[in-house]
Order: sequence, then C-alpha cells, then structure tokens
Amino acid sequence: MRYTTAGESHGKALMAIVTDVPAGVPLRQRDIDADLRRRQQGYGRGGRMLIEADTAQVLSGVRFGRTIGSPVALLVGNEDAANWAEVMDPFGSAEAVARVTAPRPGHADLPGILKTGAQDVRDVLERASARETAARVAAGAIARALLAELGVTVRSWVERIGDASTGPLAPADVARSAVGGCDVSCPDEAVAHRMRAAIDDARERGESIGGVFVVSAEGLVPGLGGYEEAALRLDARLAAAVVSVPAIKGVEFGDGFGCAALSGSEVHDEIVRDASGVLRRATNRAGGLEGGMTNGEALVVRAAMKPIPTLMRPLSTVDLVTGQRADAAKERSDVCAVPAAAVVAEAEVALVLADAYQDLLGRAFLGDMRAALAAYRARIGW
Ligand SMILES: Cc1cc2nc3c(=O)[nH]c(=O)nc-3n(C[C@H](O)[C@H](O)[C@H](O)COP(=O)(O)O)c2cc1C
Repeated sequence: MRYTTAGESHGKALMAIVTDVPAGVPLRQRDIDADLRRRQQGYGRGGRMLIEADTAQVLSGVRFGRTIGSPVALLVGNEDAANWAEVMDPFGSAEAVARVTAPRPGHADLPGILKTGAQDVRDVLERASARETAARVAAGAIARALLAELGVTVRSWVERIGDASTGPLAPADVARSAVGGCDVSCPDEAVAHRMRAAIDDARERGESIGGVFVVSAEGLVPGLGGYEEAALRLDARLAAAVVSVPAIKGVEFGDGFGCAALSGSEVHDEIVRDASGVLRRATNRAGGLEGGMTNGEALVVRAAMKPIPTLMRPLSTVDLVTGQRADAAKERSDVCAVPAAAVVAEAEVALVLADAYQDLLGRAFLGDMRAALAAYRARIGW
C-alpha cells in the first residue's frame, strides 16, 4: 500500500491517492473523518483549524462500504480557499497579489525558493505547509481499516510538550479513553495541565513550542519487515515514514537513544515461554522490533517535534527584494501542534504496517490475507 498527495494549503483541496489497496476491506466514512477531526484538534492550534471542518470525499476505489482493489482517491476540501481565490488563482496575475519575500527560518521557504527559482515564497510555503498532512491522515485511514481486520490497532499519545513530560510510559499503562478525552492527548491530567500552561506561556511570548509523542501498535505478528535486505527493514521504513512528518526531528524505537549508555543485559529482552507456550519477551525495551522485523511485542515509536517555525515575534531574515534585514513572514499559525503531529504519524505508521502485512500475506484480497494469516499463526504457534 502506497500513497501520494497533491494540494496546497489555501488551494481548493488536498488529495490523496492510495494504491495497492487489497479488495474487500470494510471502510466507513466516519472512520476516515474521525481521524481527520483528531488531526484538526489540540490545544495550541491556530485560527485556521476553526475555519476547516475536514471530511474526506471518497472518489474511487470503494463500493458499498468495501474497497474493490482499485486506487482509492480521497479529497479533503479547504474551506479557507474561498478567502484566497485571487492569491491562489491558477491562471490569475502575480501582479495582483502581494509577494511573500521574508523567508522564515526553520521552514521550507529559503531552500525551497533556491531550489525552484520561485520569486514568491508562497509558491513554496503553500505546499510545504503541514495542511498537506490532512491528506496523509485520510490515506492512513485506509491502512488502519485493513489493519483492524488483521487484529492490529495503532494509537498515539503525547509524552512531552516543552518541559512538561509524563516520562516514558508503556502502551499497557496508557488508557485510550484518557488520551482521547484530552486536548493535548496526554494520559496524565496533571501533566496535561502543565502542557497547556507551557503552550499558553509560549503564545503570550510570541513563541512556539514542540514536544515528544509516542505511536504504538498492538496485535502485530512477529516477522513483519525483514532482515534480508536494507529496504525490507521495518525499523528503517518506519523511521523514514515518521520523520517525513513535517517538523519531526528525531525518532527512536523502544528505549532508543537511552540504550547507548547501558550494558547489553540491561537492553535486550529475554525470551520466555508464556502460560500457553508462546515465545514472548519478559520486557519490551526494543519497542517490538528486532533485526528489522516485528518480534510480536507492542511497537513503540517515539518522535521529537521541533517548535513551529512561524513565530508571532519573528526571527530575523533577509528580505529577498531589498537584501536588507527583515522580520520573518508571519502566516496565521499554530503555537503547538504536537497532538496533531502524533495523529499524522499514526497514519504514517499504519501505512507502513499495512504494506508490511501485504508483503507477508499477499496484496490483492483481504479474504486471502486472512487465510494466510491464520496459516502463519498456526505454523508459528502465535
Ligand atoms: C500537524 C502540524 C501542524 C503544523 N503547523 C504549523 C504551523 O501552523 N506553522 C508553521 O510554521 N509550521 C507548522 N508545522 C511545521 C512545519 O510544517 C514544518 O516545520 C515545515 O514544513 C518545515 O519542515 P521541517 O520542520 O521538517 O524542516 C506543522 C507541522 C505539523 C506536523
């Protein structure tokens, strides 16, 4: 399963096309829209998210609530586009609109115009904007629907915003309801309170703020991914997918960077036989991955998000027209988007896992995948 997206932040719509989707996967409109709504929410978001009411129009690949094996095309409209018709007119005149000439440090603005020869930073920022991630979340819902049929759930929570942190938590200790009911997606209400205060403080100072989130997946069989070739390694595929989310600057699995300071016996997960004879692990420091494959324990991916680049008290830049020092451009912006980024990363993880299941079980038809999964489980006694 793969996807591509198109669309600009203030254009008419975002689009995703998901290819290599098996036939027979049940899909409900509300499943896609629920993920889109979660991406829109979160304490610290800017005014744009109040304008949008994201919903995905399914344009192809689904009939009567099931995928039919053809590419799934999804369209998420931009309500705000009505206010930007002249600025984003495909055939209008550049003379009629004000150019953005003060590239923002930390965004795609400067490398983007150097790369493309654009005279207006807007040519770059419209696509580099994380509004694009709405299309990714819609695409991820297709993967999530397949995974649900295979007994896999993917979820996330926010571990840190600024200096407010829960510390590392195991998936088993994180209640889905506690995260779902919290506007910073934090399972600990006392820490959530401090997170909101950190966001308020950043907003008052004209600043932005980042954090850390965790994506976990439960119900995975061992052996997804591969040790045989670099391109098969699931850790590499997951890392690339999560770091592809804008503003994600670090990713680790399980104890990750912490492992570097420890002895081998403090890091590796001993193999034990559980009551029903299944080979499990006494601990899950590896975050469910060994040798580029799942090992049957919960997948635990932790990611660091940098603070949002657009600042209401802007950093210095150089104006591209005058060549003089200037304040960096100010677009309407989030102060903190860590909870939303976590939802986008869930979608990315779901797409990688769905693809890895197809590698193992076949790509064409859910019924065949189910049969192959049952045979695989029977063979490995899982
Ligand atoms: C969900 C989400 C929302 C974001 N919102 C904003 C925003 O409102 N303003 C902004 O400047 N950057 C925002 N960003 C971050 C930028 O998109 C990102 O920093 C930029 O594309 C440059 O990419 P890089 O940080 O990976 O280098 C957001 C990122 C995500 C994942």
